[in-house]
Amino acid sequence: MPSPSRPLLVTTALPYANGPLHLGHLLETIQADIWVRHLRLCERTVVFVCADDAHGTPIMLRAAQDQIPPEQLIASVQADHLADFSRFGIAFDHYHTTHSPENQALVLRFYEALKKGHHLVTRRIRQMYDPEAGLFLPDRYIRGTCPRCGALDQYGDNCEVCGASYSPGELISPRSSLSGKTPEMRETEHVFVRLEGFRDRLRRFVHEQADLDRGVAKKLDEWLGGELRDWDITRDQPYFGFPIPDRTGQFFYVWLDAPIGYLASFRAWTQTHPGTDFDESLKAGSPTELYHFLGKDIIYFHGLFWPALLSAVGFRLPSGLFVHGFLTVNGQKMSKSRGTFLTARDFAESHPPEALRYYFATKLGSGIEDLDLDLGDLQQRYNADLVGKFVNLAARSSPFLDSGTGPQLSSSLPDPDLYDRFRKSAGAISAAYEAREFSRALRTIMDLADQANQYFTACAPWSNRRENSERAREIATETLNLFRLLTGYLKPVLPELTGRIETWLGVTTARWGDLDQPLLGRSLPPYTPLLTRLAVPPATALSRPLSLDLNPTPAAGSPMNQTPDPAPTIDIHQFNQVNLKVARILSAEKVEGSDKLLRLRISLGDEERTVFAGIQTAYTPENLVGRLTVVVANLAPRKMRFGISEAMVLAASDGASGPFLLSPDSGAAPGMVVR
Ligand code: 2FM
Ligand code: ZN
Repeated sequence: MPSPSRPLLVTTALPYANGPLHLGHLLETIQADIWVRHLRLCERTVVFVCADDAHGTPIMLRAAQDQIPPEQLIASVQADHLADFSRFGIAFDHYHTTHSPENQALVLRFYEALKKGHHLVTRRIRQMYDPEAGLFLPDRYIRGTCPRCGALDQYGDNCEVCGASYSPGELISPRSSLSGKTPEMRETEHVFVRLEGFRDRLRRFVHEQADLDRGVAKKLDEWLGGELRDWDITRDQPYFGFPIPDRTGQFFYVWLDAPIGYLASFRAWTQTHPGTDFDESLKAGSPTELYHFLGKDIIYFHGLFWPALLSAVGFRLPSGLFVHGFLTVNGQKMSKSRGTFLTARDFAESHPPEALRYYFATKLGSGIEDLDLDLGDLQQRYNADLVGKFVNLAARSSPFLDSGTGPQLSSSLPDPDLYDRFRKSAGAISAAYEAREFSRALRTIMDLADQANQYFTACAPWSNRRENSERAREIATETLNLFRLLTGYLKPVLPELTGRIETWLGVTTARWGDLDQPLLGRSLPPYTPLLTRLAVPPATALSRPLSLDLNPTPAAGSPMNQTPDPAPTIDIHQFNQVNLKVARILSAEKVEGSDKLLRLRISLGDEERTVFAGIQTAYTPENLVGRLTVVVANLAPRKMRFGISEAMVLAASDGASGPFLLSPDSGAAPGMVVR
């Protein structure tokens, strides 16, 4: 847990510069971004950086395949990455590349320090070489038969069938996946970091100093209890990377310069922020804290190699490693062949990006368990929580603010204690954000949203609005102030939506303290809908009932124009407030200018009313006349573009088919109460 008042440097793992961002990248960057945005609301000084991981054989080969220089490939991939991060509201202070002068200078500094500290050894090794492609082959580019179980076509380092790990030399009938030829063994001399020399320092790091998940600490401890193998930091040409100055034809391995890229990005940031000194911030004992967000597949690099490198150069070690699990899609590993590989762009083309931020946040805790993405579940949570509960507060209360000259908040709150209670919840919400228990923070916030909706429903400002419009305005003011507090609490997760709400309300929450005073007495621009429901994805269209919004244009005076789905549980008193009645349709006609609405004249036994219903796609007017159906009789009249609707006709739909009107059994008569 970061100690209060210290500055922080926060990073996310560097995406490789040879492909688009996918939802796995976004899981990590969204998690870190929420954490950082929350710290900023707590008035902490945070620098949040990342970069593209631009070196290595795959990037060199991909550029060759595209017949462009690697520099051109990594520049265009970086531009795509930046566009994706910005779509998803990831607000890095700086986004760099490992192929940069800042990184090169730092890599050389680390190399010199390792040499000076006698942490390097050279050793002759034998490695597979593809004479046709003209390069030493990384293990992933060698395929052959597993020496343990005999499975065909396995990688050079491990077998996907029996799980064995081995060295490429053990593989039976090895072939290069670049040329298809049998590789030959060649000797070469490489430089290694002696990790053994750091064992004690690393033990102290794991046991005493770093903020680590218990499972992560256990894993590191296990490794530290065994043999610490020397780490090969050299690659032979051709290679896309930084040349090693005193070793002709050799380059630094990409995994050496990648974590150093964190610092290069910070260095580049300090160049435009002269108040922060790079060395002072990073030297051992500096008050600046260093946190890395990363996936569980790269714990070894960040928990052993990286702290060893930092210690060799005299820099502070990470204050914490925040490790997350993998993202699965519908319970399966992301895979192109199964159609479960989703890029950031794929998602943004079919969903609002903040739906993903919200969904991940509702499922994220501080542990390293895998997280499953289910698009049906995402849609349901978005509609139920954000549309049905949160935004619903503004949609249903704002029509009652009208003072005759436009919406205006009343000059006092009718229930200041309720406001205070909501305000005091900030402590628990903030603590949950800080501990990266985002799902807990959001449960608390949505519970408050339920309470705010219950307050509004219980006060029923529509019931005697004509006689007491000032009272209705006060209730709406209270509700909107609760909504405004929740907006502040949701800011780290939903910067775009909360930004639009702040523009509407004319206030900004830059720190928690800005929420202390309620908003009173001010005029507001008219409310315009803040969110629309997500459509049901085809795979789930038939599996879940969906309440049908028969009034697509939000209408003034409606207390329920963004209906929860599913609605929160209500008690019998709340149910009793809805007056459902049997109605007979006396006449029906198309509404000119609308391809959805029908104008119905209905009888409720002792009175007649006009209702607009969005059922034109499913019913012809003449087939409706005379039939019985069910309506909400005490819905406040709503002014629509074509006239006033004086009740709501109920109909069923699952989003894909319908709407279907409800039909009471014979014997029912207009005016009967439905219970
Ligand atoms: O695993 C990966 O995608 C690497 N590109 C992460 C590097 S993180 C850090 F060490 F730079
Ligand atoms: Zn095997």
